[in-house]
Amino acid sequence: MSLPYTQEMLDSIKKVEAGREARVNGPEPRRMTADEKTALLEEFHPDYNMESFAQIQIGPNKGEKAPKELVELLQANSRLKDVDVNLSDPDYDVDILVIGGGGAGSSAAIEAKRAGANVMIVTKLRIGDANTMMAEGGIQAADKENDSPAQHYLDVMGGGHFANDPELVKKLVTKGPEAIKWLESLGVLFDKEEDGTMITTHGGGTSRKRMHAARDYSGAEIMRVLRDEVLNLGIPVVDFTAAIEIIKDEDGKAAGAVLMNMETKELLVARAKCVIIATGGAGRMHYQGFPTSNHYGATADGLILAYRAGASLLYQDTLQYHPTGVAFPAQIYGALVTEKVRSVGAMFVNAEGEVFMHPLETRDVAASGIIREVKQRGKGVHTPIADGVWLDTPMIDMIHGKGTLEKRLPGMLRMYARCDIDMREVPIVVYPTLHYQNGGIKIAPNGMSQVENLFVAGEAVGGVHGRNRLMGNSLLDIIVFGRNAGQSAAATYKNVTVGKLTLSHVDAYAKEMEEAGIVTDVVSPKLLPDYRWK
Ligand code: FUM
Repeated sequence: MSLPYTQEMLDSIKKVEAGREARVNGPEPRRMTADEKTALLEEFHPDYNMESFAQIQIGPNKGEKAPKELVELLQANSRLKDVDVNLSDPDYDVDILVIGGGGAGSSAAIEAKRAGANVMIVTKLRIGDANTMMAEGGIQAADKENDSPAQHYLDVMGGGHFANDPELVKKLVTKGPEAIKWLESLGVLFDKEEDGTMITTHGGGTSRKRMHAARDYSGAEIMRVLRDEVLNLGIPVVDFTAAIEIIKDEDGKAAGAVLMNMETKELLVARAKCVIIATGGAGRMHYQGFPTSNHYGATADGLILAYRAGASLLYQDTLQYHPTGVAFPAQIYGALVTEKVRSVGAMFVNAEGEVFMHPLETRDVAASGIIREVKQRGKGVHTPIADGVWLDTPMIDMIHGKGTLEKRLPGMLRMYARCDIDMREVPIVVYPTLHYQNGGIKIAPNGMSQVENLFVAGEAVGGVHGRNRLMGNSLLDIIVFGRNAGQSAAATYKNVTVGKLTLSHVDAYAKEMEEAGIVTDVVSPKLLPDYRWK
C-alpha cells in the first residue's frame, strides 16, 4: 500500500498530527452564533451565488428563481413534441402507478398494495437504483427516553431556517418512532448494544442522539428489505422504463403516465386512478459545477413531470451541498464521506493544523465554513485533484478505542483502502459535494400535489426540510412520506372514475413557452446525465 498523498500533503499532516492529542482531550470547538452563521451563509453558501440562478418565465412558479440548469429543463420541450401517442388503448391499467423504485416509491407501493390496491412501480433503472441505496449515516427518530417528537420538531425547523411546512414536519417527527418499528419488522438490522438497545448518535444540528444506523450503509440495508418486501408482495416492477409525461383525464386529474423504454425508446401508456411521483433528487444536474454524492439517475425528473402537469414547486432554489464529499483521490471524487465520521469524533482541520469550526454545525453552515477556509482564508489543503480541508479520522480510534472506525464505518474504511489510504492512520481531504434537493414539488399533508390524484413522496417533495435538511431526516422522510402517499392514494383511488385520457396540458405548456418567446432544443425530463466529451 503506497499512500497517494503528495509531499505537500504529508508536510501538512505533520501539523495535523501535532495538535491531535490536544483535540482529542480538549474541549469541543465552540459553536457559531446565529449572526456568524447568517453572515457565513450569505457570503459562501452556493445558494447565495445569484449568478447561478435564473428566473422561471412560465408555469405556476413564474417569476421565482431556480438554478439555471433546472430552469433550462423546466422550459424545455416535451419528449412528446411532434409525437402522436395513442391514449385510447393503454398498455397498463392499474389503480396506483408509482414512478420511481427507491425507498419512497417502494414504501408507497408496499402500503398501497397492503391496502388492496392494484399497484405497479415503473423505474427508469432498476428497483433500488436510487439515492436511498447510497445513504450512509442513518435515520433520525425520537424514540429514546430523553427525546421527543417535539424536540425533533424544533431541530428540524431550526435546521431548515424555519422555512419548513410545519404540518409536514409534524408528520415527519411524530411518525418517526413508528417508521423505525416498521423497518425493524421488515427485517432492517440496526446497530444495537449487547442488550438490544438501539445505538443512536448525533448528527449536525441535533439536540439529542437520535440517529439510528446500520453501520455506514444504512440506506443499503433499508433498501434491501424494502425491495424484498415489494417482490414478496408480488408488486409488478417495470424496470428500465421512464415516465416522460403525466397523463391527465378530461377533468384535469392525474390519470397515468406516458412511459418510455430506456433501451428501445418504445412509448407505452399506463392508465391509473392515482399516480405517485417518487423520482428522487437532482445531484446529477451538477449545479454550479459541483461533483455529487448522488445516484446516476438523480436528474430532477419528477419536478419536470409535475410542473408541466400544473403542480407548484416549493424552494426549488435551495440545494444541499454535503460538507464532506471526497476531494481526493480522483477515483472517488465527490463521493459521500458520511457525517457519521464526525458524529463519532473526527474534526475539520485546515492545512495549518488548525480546527476552524465545530464538526457538527448544520450542513449548510459546515459546507460554507469549508468553502471560506479554502477560497477566502487560503488555508485549504492542496491536492492534485481539488482543494479541500482535512477531516481528522485517526481521532476516532483515539477517542473510542482501537477498532471503532473499522466497526462503525466499514464502508468508509473500505472505500479509502481501495485507494491505498488507511483513514485510521491518516486524515482524508474533503470538500462540499452536491447531495440533496431541499426543495421540490409542493404537497399537502396527505401527499397530494396541487394536481388532483397526483401524489409525491421523498426527495421530489419540497417543504419538509425548509431550506436545509438535517442528516438522517431524508431516510426518515422517504419512509414516512412514502408510506403516507401510498396510504392516501389507496384511500383515494376507490372513489376515482378516470375520464378520457389527455395530454392537452403538455400542448398548453408548449404554447405558453411559445408565447413567452422561449425557443430551445433542450428536451426534458433529462432521465440520465450526459458525461460524453463534447
Ligand atoms: O452523511 C450522511 O451519512 C448522509 C446522510 C443524509 O444525507 O441524511
